[in-house]
Amino acid sequence: MGSVLVTGAAGQIGSELVVELRRRLPDQAVVAADLSTKLPPGVQEQGPNITVDVTDGAQIARVFEEHGVDTVYHLAGILSATGEQKPRLAWNTNIGGLYNVLEAARTRGARVFWPSSISVFGPDSPRVNTPQNAVMIPSTIYGASKVAGELLCNYYYHRFGVDVRSVRYPGIVSSETLPGGGTTDYAARMYYEAIERGQYTCFVRRDTTLPMMYIPDAIKAAFSIMDAESGRVTIRTSYNLTAMSFSAGELAEEIWKHIPNFECTFEPDFRQAIADSWPVSIDDSLARAHWGWNPDYDLSSMTTDILRVLGERIRK
Ligand code: SER
Repeated sequence: MGSVLVTGAAGQIGSELVVELRRRLPDQAVVAADLSTKLPPGVQEQGPNITVDVTDGAQIARVFEEHGVDTVYHLAGILSATGEQKPRLAWNTNIGGLYNVLEAARTRGARVFWPSSISVFGPDSPRVNTPQNAVMIPSTIYGASKVAGELLCNYYYHRFGVDVRSVRYPGIVSSETLPGGGTTDYAARMYYEAIERGQYTCFVRRDTTLPMMYIPDAIKAAFSIMDAESGRVTIRTSYNLTAMSFSAGELAEEIWKHIPNFECTFEPDFRQAIADSWPVSIDDSLARAHWGWNPDYDLSSMTTDILRVLGERIRK
């Protein structure tokens, strides 16, 4: 039995995915890899953990070889807001890194999970209930790297038979590791600041509505598509995926139900234009039909759960 490699293991999704994978696969090595040497405690304590630069192809090939990797969750990437500040870094990391991982997977016959994003869509795409195959002309370098990445995955599947599977994640709301450098970060941050300080200045307008998902559902989606029988995964670019859509104002109102003295103000910055170019809701019927996608959390149940989890952590 080979090992499972997770790149971006210190990140928002990676830090929780590694823990879940180690729980699911007690007899298999789950190798947590990140550029950063600072892994979250839950990841750090268990191991094996390694430092990896995904833009270094030789290093990636060596890691696959040394650890006998047969499955990789390639999560390392630069998000949309940081991407606009550092476009070359975003392209090199997101596309160079993916290329290196797909090459190593091809050489070793490994399976690949790679996250795409709602950012593949742009101002010309329908914004409501955006279909799987809508026009994809994004306005960010991040979105461009995700479109190119999807095409690269599709190419590796058809040309080389690499079993690569992907979903277009909406904004992910997490409690363990907050997102960094993205446009949808305000959602997770609003919960955190509501508990920590009782106030938050949100960087998008009150009426900004985006598709979102609670982290347990994001992890469930990764496992569902990876567990699906290969013939059911007919889309090898990436599947539309969502759980809920809400505006920043509706999120604040949901938090008020639990923390009545929470103060939220709205001061849009450059991330507003990015948010305005993305869908407000997503049609994920193909993910539901092909491999049984079905999220567990809506805005109300996510809010109840995350405030409990964050409250316990902050009170500790
Ligand atoms: N959450 C990402 C971002 O905001 C979108 O996929 O950049």
